[in-house]
Amino acid sequence: MSDNAFSKNILCIGAGYVGGPTMAMIAAKCPHYKVTVADINAEKIRAWQTENLPIYEPGLLEVVKKAYGKNLFFTTDIEEGIKRADIIFVSVNTPTKMYGGGAGKTADLQHWERTARDIFRIAESDKIIVEKSTLPVRTAEAMERILSANGKGLNFDVVSNPEFLAEGTAIPDLENPDRVLVGSKETERGRKAREAIVEIYANWISKDRIITCDIWSAELSKLVANAFLAQRISSINSISALCEKTEADIKKVAHAIGMDSRIGPKFLNASVGFGGSCFKKDILNLVYICEYYGLHEVARYWESVVKINEYQEGRFVQKMIHAMFNTIAHKRIALFGFAFKANTGDTRESPAIYVTRKLAEEHARVIITDPKALHNAEYDLKDILQKYVEFEADPYKAAEGAHAIAIMTEWDSYKALDYKKIYERMEKPAFLFDGRNILDHQKIYEIGFNVYPIGKPALTHF
Ligand code: NAD
Ligand code: UGA
Repeated sequence: MSDNAFSKNILCIGAGYVGGPTMAMIAAKCPHYKVTVADINAEKIRAWQTENLPIYEPGLLEVVKKAYGKNLFFTTDIEEGIKRADIIFVSVNTPTKMYGGGAGKTADLQHWERTARDIFRIAESDKIIVEKSTLPVRTAEAMERILSANGKGLNFDVVSNPEFLAEGTAIPDLENPDRVLVGSKETERGRKAREAIVEIYANWISKDRIITCDIWSAELSKLVANAFLAQRISSINSISALCEKTEADIKKVAHAIGMDSRIGPKFLNASVGFGGSCFKKDILNLVYICEYYGLHEVARYWESVVKINEYQEGRFVQKMIHAMFNTIAHKRIALFGFAFKANTGDTRESPAIYVTRKLAEEHARVIITDPKALHNAEYDLKDILQKYVEFEADPYKAAEGAHAIAIMTEWDSYKALDYKKIYERMEKPAFLFDGRNILDHQKIYEIGFNVYPIGKPALTHF
């Protein structure tokens, strides 16, 4: 079909965890739009063109299949995509900058700026540019400055439309979001551009859940949403340390406080720590912005959320070493799960990376199992492979001859394993460290394990 057969021609630059699923959903819900997703990574684009998608996300393949080849296309031809599109979503990665000024805190905007310059160089008509990546507040200003220097007499309107999906639930999050946020300049052109983006989502989301605001508030809201979510986890994790000292039970505390409707029950699962590509980077970004504006107390406040997370990861490893008689050298330790959360193969900033490295430093032999993340795990640990790490798809085999199991990811399949069978094949005394509190600890203890949950007293046989 020619481009004229479609009422909007949408391009997304960046075919990752956000660009791929978001555009697949727009294409599936809006057969009257043409949606093209472009990326510099040819291997990733090839994978999007097959049934073997480059990311694991429940329900994603079905959504892609609905639209692929009809109004959804994947390409490496960014230039052609830019020329044809009326609306360009930019969903490139914005990791923490690891060099120069702001290293370790601020966002690395090199990919973002490169796309701005590509658009500036290639565009032959007016465009709406949509910030989908998570960006420091006031990035739109820099984008507009780059684009307005085009000298071609073209108009570029920059709109902020941050993404709130969580991995593992991306499809339901996109299909039925709590809210969609669209921010723009409060000018006539800005408001018109904003309306064009609202119109896309209004194809399947009710208008009362599509909120509009100024561009700076939209940009900042994304960073603040992630900071608040991570803060809840650090808050409950900090209390889990106190529970372990006082024999209180973190699950009961979380339940009791969560029933207060002002607090609410979600995001109160104590764990080995939060992971994922965004929480840490977005908080550090917020910290950097606060420091830039001289708000040092505010910066320290948010920085403590990351510090508590590091404390929780460190505490978990220390507990393992201490419980296993202060030496784990040459002991086999099976890690159940490597992904940063269940239902994804993503391992970015997974606590399992930190835990593996610390165990390896103590010369333990770590056997890693995970239903979806082994490939990424091998990449994350390539420098310590062979000497300290093994990979095993079958959790029963991973635990064979092990001194301990540590549950790192809350995969449902780990709840349903036959722990009696596992126990029988392990070295004794057998230890189980439940970094996600997903097992029935009393039952596991009765099988014979020494059990160490998070935020609850340990159950030991000695
Ligand atoms: P990702 O690394 O999975 O994908 C980014 C893609 O952009 C990569 O495939 C990369 O090859 C491509 N890219 C980089 N530079 C490019 C360029 N110049 N031209 C074309 N393609 C280019 O990242 P992601 O997880 O999808 O995150 C993207 C943004 O969305 C980040 O800012 C992130 O903070 C934000 N975000 C992520 C999530 C999430 O769950 N992962 C959720 C909400 C928001
Ligand atoms: C998070 C946010 O939830 C999304 O709204 C946001 O769009 C996204 O970051 C982003 O900007 O990238 P995500 O990181 O995919 O999504 O997953 P979450 O469900 O938020 O989990 C993050 C981490 O916190 C995981 O390691 C998870 O296991 C951990 N977690 C979560 C806990 O330890 N306890 C909880 O109660 C909840």
